[in-house]
Formats: sequence, structure tokens, C-alpha cells
Amino acid sequence: MNQVVDPGDVVVDATVGNGHDTVYLAKLVGPQGHVYGFDIQKAAIDHTAAALENAHLQPSVTLTHAGHENLATVLPADQPIKCAIFNLGYLPGGDKTIITHAATTLTAVTALESRLATNGLIILMVYAGHPGGQAEAQALHDHVTQLDQQTFQVLQYGFINQIHQPPYLIAIQKR
Ligand SMILES: C[S@@+](CC[C@H](N)C(=O)[O-])C[C@H]1O[C@@H](n2cnc3c(N)ncnc32)[C@H](O)[C@@H]1O
Repeated sequence: MNQVVDPGDVVVDATVGNGHDTVYLAKLVGPQGHVYGFDIQKAAIDHTAAALENAHLQPSVTLTHAGHENLATVLPADQPIKCAIFNLGYLPGGDKTIITHAATTLTAVTALESRLATNGLIILMVYAGHPGGQAEAQALHDHVTQLDQQTFQVLQYGFINQIHQPPYLIAIQKR
């Protein structure tokens, strides 16, 4: 994220959770930029709001207690998005049955693709090991592998010597 995000940029944390990425992004965009954060769990939104307040970063962030599939109704239509982060799956230490799902993840990713700034980046941390994770990973793979290479560069980065199903990262960059 720090390779593409500059002060003043507009960015998205699509899965706020405990707010680590939200806080990090708010520091990167600074007071002139803005972070739009989404989570379906009220506790995640409240926890992150408190962390932002402690760090005096809340003016740079809009938190929405709703799924990222609704982001088109929240993001300003006229501002390109420089970076969006998705940390998929369930919240560590939280309810493991509350997970991200293929259909809603793809709705959000597709909406962001059309709003991405030149060189803008969508980052997806993909976890396939939990129930439901494999279906989401497969749907994402099917989607990103058919993106036009003239418009997007798509890269995958992950461990290849680990047992079980380690998480991996997919990055979609607008040319
Ligand atoms: C792996 S956690 C995110 C961790 C977070 N990045 C952090 O720093 O703690 C995944 C989060 O996605 C949220 N989530 C699940 N479905 C969602 C959706 N449709 N829209 C937004 N967030 C969703 C869960 O509530 C959970 O908090």
C-alpha cells in the first residue's frame, strides 16, 4: 500500500475488522486524503472508530457499518480510488462463521475496478482454508484471470512451501 498511496489520495478498507489497515491507510493519505471503511460487524466499526480517535485520525476516515458490496452508494463518484484492501475470511478472535462471500466480494471488486486511478491497486488477502473460503477463492480466480491485460496487471503472491492452505495475496493494478 505504501508504494502507491500518497498524501491526499482516496482509498478503501473493504474489510475493516480490528482496524489495523484502516489506521495504516489513514496515516498514508494524511489530512488531505480520505479512507472509506466498511464492515458488517458493528463491533468492528466501533473498535476501529475508537482506534482512529486515539490516533486523532478520525477526520480522514468515513466508517460505514454495511457490506462493501454497497460501496458504490458511499464513495464519491468523481474521485478515483488509489488503493483498496480486502482482508477476506473471518475476523481473527471473532465469530468464525461471519465470513466474506464470493458474490459480495466480486460486486465490490468489480465496482472498484471501474473507479481505480491509473496505477491504482486493489489488494486481496485470500484465505481458502475455512468453510466457504475455497468457493470465494475460486470465484475470485475466475474473475481476475479474465481481466483485460491491456487495462489491468494482476499478480499473485504467496507461500509455496507451507502445509495446509496458507493465505495468498492477489493484486490488481490499473495500467
Ligand atoms: C479478516 S477480517 C479483517 C481484518 C482487518 N483487516 C484487521 O486489520 O483487523 C474480515 C472482516 O470482513 C468483515 N466482512 C465480512 N463480510 C463483509 C462484507 N460483505 N463487507 C464488509 N466487511 C465484511 C468481517 O466482519 C471481518 O471483520
